[in-house]
Amino acid sequence: MSLNQERVAMITGGNSGIGFATATKLAAKGYLVLLASRNQQASSQAIARIHDLYPQAVVESIPLDLSSFVSVRACAAAFNARGLPLHVLINNAGGSVPGKQASFTMDGFEMTFGTNHLGHFLLTNLLLDVLKGSAPARVITVSSELHNPDYAKGPLADFDYDNLKGEKYYHPQVFYRNSKLANVWFAYELQRRLSGSGVTSNAVCPGFVPAAIAARRNSPLEQFFYSQVMARMPFARSLEQASTSYMVAATDPAFEGVGGKFIVDGKEKASSKDSYDEVKARRLWERSVEWCGLG
Ligand SMILES: NC(=O)c1ccc[n+]([C@@H]2O[C@H](COP(=O)([O-])OP(=O)(O)OC[C@H]3O[C@@H](n4cnc5c(N)ncnc54)[C@H](OP(=O)(O)O)[C@@H]3O)[C@@H](O)[C@H]2O)c1
Repeated sequence: MSLNQERVAMITGGNSGIGFATATKLAAKGYLVLLASRNQQASSQAIARIHDLYPQAVVESIPLDLSSFVSVRACAAAFNARGLPLHVLINNAGGSVPGKQASFTMDGFEMTFGTNHLGHFLLTNLLLDVLKGSAPARVITVSSELHNPDYAKGPLADFDYDNLKGEKYYHPQVFYRNSKLANVWFAYELQRRLSGSGVTSNAVCPGFVPAAIAARRNSPLEQFFYSQVMARMPFARSLEQASTSYMVAATDPAFEGVGGKFIVDGKEKASSKDSYDEVKARRLWERSVEWCGLG
């Protein structure tokens, strides 16, 4: 680590979309940036793109598949073995699984919940000691306003412990929204548990970012629809705007020492009523500890 890389950031899903835009900004700011990703070839390409823009940037990849506890543990162990500090952890990776059938992680959890929540829950917990040792440090967990029934249209979050694996039904939007509610419960509960440690935890919503969605679509028509039509809607956010929101949460002095917030467009905003329920957040935490084998 050279002198201007005194600050270290890890971002999950940093190869593409908002994660990549944020990784680029962190690297430009002089952070040593670790792209935690399940596709090392895509990481090499992402690193090359950042180097094209900022030849001095120090960006590396570290293997991480959030849908496998073995992989998450290996990622944390590999990071911890390097003896680096960690000042910013951005739990950004995620998405949903389309279709009518649930799919499952290596450990048997429904894929969207397992990846978006459980993988990040385990990763963060395994990195907590290094985060505390690097304080002041920040954990940013990417959620979505779609967790909030006051905001979302369509099928709402329906967090039911008896349907976490799709035992009763599976609906991609419901399961995505549940996972994003879990992200907020996690971020708030983590902040309560970190109180006084110098490490803060916040949840962020990047807004609706059609450019990131377009890049994931195979159909040229859909790509056009998101990148040219939806991107022009007044409520749409560009990759630049969305990554600025992440950067505010991750680096802005205004958020130094501030945790337990839901940040949208770089500002604190209310999350759903349910997300402030501390009993529910604690229950999810305790169940997640069991599921992840953190004992
Ligand atoms: N775009 C929006 O409008 C919007 C709105 C609200 C919230 N968000 C949230 O913003 C975050 C970033 O999304 P994005 O829009 O930038 O989409 P994106 O480009 O698809 O980014 C998602 C990233 O997650 C990674 N990922 C998925 N499953 C993974 C796994 N099992 N292990 C490791 N990495 C995995 C993907 O890696 P691969 O390339 O290997 O698949 C990809 O790099 C997500 O949490 C999303 O829910 C997005």
